[in-house]
Amino acid sequence: MLFKQLLIQKSYSDKANALCSFKRSLKRSVAGSAFGFALMLLVFSTITTLSIQSAYAQNDPDSTTQTIDDGAATTDVADTATDGATPEMIAKGQELFEGNCAQCHAVHEKVVGPALKGVESRWSGRAELINFIKYPEKTIMGGNQYAAKLYKEYGQMMPNHDFFKDEQIVSILEYIKTVPVPVAVVDLPDDGNKVQESGANSGLLLSVIIGLIALLLVVALVLVVLISVLSGYLQKEKLDQDEDTVVSQSIFDFKAFFTSAGFIGVVLFILVSVGAKELFAGLWTIGVQQGYAPTQPIKFSHKLHAGFYEIDCKFCHSGVEKGKAAVIPSANVCMNCHGELRRGSPEIEKIYTAIEKNEPIQWVRIHNLPDLSYFNHSQHVKVAGLECETCHGNIKEMEVVQQVSLLTMGWCINCHREWDVNAQGNDYYDNLIKLHNSTSKEPLKVEDIGGLECSKCHY
Ligand code: HEC
Ligand code: HEC
Ligand code: HEC
Ligand code: HEC
Ligand code: HEC
Ligand code: HEC
Repeated sequence: MLFKQLLIQKSYSDKANALCSFKRSLKRSVAGSAFGFALMLLVFSTITTLSIQSAYAQNDPDSTTQTIDDGAATTDVADTATDGATPEMIAKGQELFEGNCAQCHAVHEKVVGPALKGVESRWSGRAELINFIKYPEKTIMGGNQYAAKLYKEYGQMMPNHDFFKDEQIVSILEYIKTVPVPVAVVDLPDDGNKVQESGANSGLLLSVIIGLIALLLVVALVLVVLISVLSGYLQKEKLDQDEDTVVSQSIFDFKAFFTSAGFIGVVLFILVSVGAKELFAGLWTIGVQQGYAPTQPIKFSHKLHAGFYEIDCKFCHSGVEKGKAAVIPSANVCMNCHGELRRGSPEIEKIYTAIEKNEPIQWVRIHNLPDLSYFNHSQHVKVAGLECETCHGNIKEMEVVQQVSLLTMGWCINCHREWDVNAQGNDYYDNLIKLHNSTSKEPLKVEDIGGLECSKCHY
């Protein structure tokens, strides 16, 4: 009897013990999940912060020499240019084309005569085509059906080109094959690659974050289910008063946890620090227009003019060596070339309209320092011998110009701290250099000639 009583008591105390340890482990697991939750939040905020930082690292002033990555836009030109034809031949062809054909033909659009892209595929052979170009009238009258159809369509006959040698015409045909498609290239702005790349990066980041949150939710769900199943099971057992209080206590009080000072404190801290970081980053970029690439009134392409045709920057931006402003060319400068080249393209028509109406073309300004600061092109281009690309990026590859550098005060100052003064062939610096070398082993920097003085850059 006594033994039985003892046994019952023992089993009772066993039960109580079990319950107590269950309560403890439950508490531990809940504490663990809270800790995990906090940890995840920390990881999350770190990743966000890092991503913000990397976004601004791209804006780093050191990247002044970065080049704009060229997309697939040019490959098509280079590929076709090399099949069989030498660059000299193509250059010759271009010259002949511009001198003799461009007033009536363009490669990609109809002018007076048909667009010439892919023309060879419309004739049964090169010999026939050359013969047509030399003697269109004879070909049309000679009963060539396609030539007759063309004549009917255009209502005009091309003059004879019998003064050309066959190989000259071949060079024109080869040149035609190499002309890039202006419109298609416009659709692929140079920053396309960059945008996609950073898009991919942030896509990855986003999926990592979503993955983490999903994991967190699953863990929380499993814990909640576990707790409710176990406590449900315990409630079915007949328990005495003491045990009952123990079990009901052991159920985690979410309300108390989420309203606890500790939890609110941690969440607030994270929110405030991420918010502050964003705010500061935002403040730094007020007025910074890096990457600004507005649509211009005329689809003027630097890639075509400065890149493909290698027209010197100074031909159009005639101020760079003379003074403060680089100067945007007036419509008259365009007319140096487009006055002779064909009329007909709607973009070129806009130049004519501007001249006829005597109204300047309304180019949208891209680079623009505030009035309080002074920047002089000739100081940098002529005196310092800097390349345009150092500050403006690879303009020769840009279909639409965009601002590559930050143009902040920090950007100017950084370069002035690091850039060696170009004293070669400049008598003005001779004595200065001697003086400098006697006191320092470092090369003469812009800083050393007063490049950090406020009044040099501020009126
Ligand atoms: C005065 C205007 C004029 C000039 C200059 C001119 N063409 Fe034409 N060309 C035309 C017209 C109009 C046609 C279509 C009617 C026809 O058959 O003559 C044509 C047709 C052609 C075609 C056939 C196009 C097709 O779609 O099959 C070729 C090729 C061509 N020209 C090449 C040339 C070349 C190369 C030159 C320069 C050496 C040249 N043209 C100079 C007016 C011109
Ligand atoms: C055929 C004339 C021409 C040539 C050659 C030329 N440009 Fe331009 N440039 C323009 C015109 C027109 C604009 C204004 C329209 C635009 O932004 O595309 C311009 C705009 C610019 C701008 C932006 C100006 C702004 O509003 O802030 C920069 C920078 C620039 N050019 C640099 C260069 C460099 C560097 C070269 C040589 C590699 C060059 N350009 C060659 C005509 C030319
Ligand atoms: C040194 C010669 C030269 C100067 C100066 C020049 N261009 Fe061009 N431009 C060309 C050549 C060559 C082409 C290509 C042939 C063509 O398509 O007519 C071209 C093509 C173009 C095209 C594309 C043609 C089309 O069919 O849409 C536009 C737009 C254009 N130029 C605008 C301008 C503007 C605006 C200026 C003045 C700021 C200018 N160009 C100054 C030589 C020049
Ligand atoms: C040291 C950096 C630097 C170099 C090198 C430089 N630029 Fe600039 N460029 C600037 C800055 C800064 C502005 C904005 C100036 C302003 O708003 O007063 C600017 C503006 C321009 C503009 C538009 C406004 C204007 O001044 O007319 C053109 C066009 C231009 N640059 C062309 C060129 C060309 C072409 C070259 C090379 C021959 C060149 N730049 C070299 C920094 C530079
Ligand atoms: C890529 C480098 C670079 C950048 C960016 C740059 N500069 Fe300079 N700057 C130079 C060099 C090199 C000189 C020295 C020229 C010389 O030999 O007189 C110079 C000289 C100057 C001078 C004359 C200093 C003196 O003591 O004579 C002024 C003013 C100036 N820069 C203003 C600016 C401003 C404003 C900016 C930003 C909008 C800027 N610079 C951006 C390289 C740079
Ligand atoms: C190398 C040229 C350069 C020197 C030296 C320089 N600044 Fe600046 N500063 C600039 C440029 C460029 C800006 C315009 C930046 C912008 O628009 O983000 C600027 C902007 C400012 C602004 C306005 C800030 C703003 O965000 O609008 C103040 C204030 C200023 N500078 C003060 C100074 C003082 C003080 C000194 C001397 C200790 C100094 N600067 C030296 C080029 C210079």
